[in-house]
Amino acid sequence: MNDVIVVASGKGGTGKSTVCVCLSVALVNQNKKVLLIDCDCGMRGLDLMLDVEEDILFDCSDAVCGNCKPKEAVYKSKNLDNLYLMAAPFDADNEISPAVFSELVSQLKKSYDYVIIDSPAGVGSGFATAASPADRALIVTNAEPTSLRGAVKIRKKLEEYNISNIRLVINRFSREQFDKLNCYNDLDEVIDVAGARLIALVPFDTRVSAIMQKGVAGLNWSPATTVFDCLARRINGDNIPLAYIGD
Ligand SMILES: Nc1ncnc2c1ncn2[C@@H]1O[C@H](COP(=O)(O)OP(=O)(O)OP(=O)(O)O)[C@@H](O)[C@H]1O
Ligand SMILES: [Mg+2]
Repeated sequence: MNDVIVVASGKGGTGKSTVCVCLSVALVNQNKKVLLIDCDCGMRGLDLMLDVEEDILFDCSDAVCGNCKPKEAVYKSKNLDNLYLMAAPFDADNEISPAVFSELVSQLKKSYDYVIIDSPAGVGSGFATAASPADRALIVTNAEPTSLRGAVKIRKKLEEYNISNIRLVINRFSREQFDKLNCYNDLDEVIDVAGARLIALVPFDTRVSAIMQKGVAGLNWSPATTVFDCLARRINGDNIPLAYIGD
């Protein structure tokens, strides 16, 4: 399998890192071995969510610069077997080129069922590097115009990079807020604007935010985790309907 998936959004704060972690946990729970790579250079965050911040000696920039072997920059989650992290550098000083990063990922991916890459917001060079090794992409958007504008930009960029397997994740969805906002007739219109097929509709669920403070250990059952289980199955190729449990 060895699939490499980049998670992107254009606009910041749509929930990319949250989707990366929750999807990875769901894949691990389905007996997959997952490497998460934090490519948000200078804004590292996944180490906190995986409770490994104290362990990190080397990051992906060290691995590409030869300061360590690639495997030495991979850290196992304390809470879940089969979940591994390569952290982003703390500072954004050392820009990693797409070619060098692709080479690193092509070496690492042999040892995992999935490599999930968290990308920085925007369509700049950091995103180009994050997307460079990807076989497929998830665009994370919220159902509002500013976020969708970012989703369209990022989809076009991904298409430029010849990534054709692109799916949409609508995150932090609340029917009540969506109706109040009254920007779109229905979710079909949101999907049409984004121009990518929907693979998951994740409800607004504050329990998901617990992973920010408590790490994956704090991720108990919630409506959103059920949706991530369904997303993981769909990523695995199971032909199952979209799950949505929310308001
Ligand atoms: N489904 C959800 N329900 C409720 N809150 C959510 C959900 N998804 C994400 N959040 C919250 O939204 C905020 C932004 O999430 P996150 O950091 O994952 O976004 P991001 O796209 O990675 O941001 P950045 O562009 O800064 O990297 C966080 O506080 C997170 O807990
Ligand atoms: Mg993030």
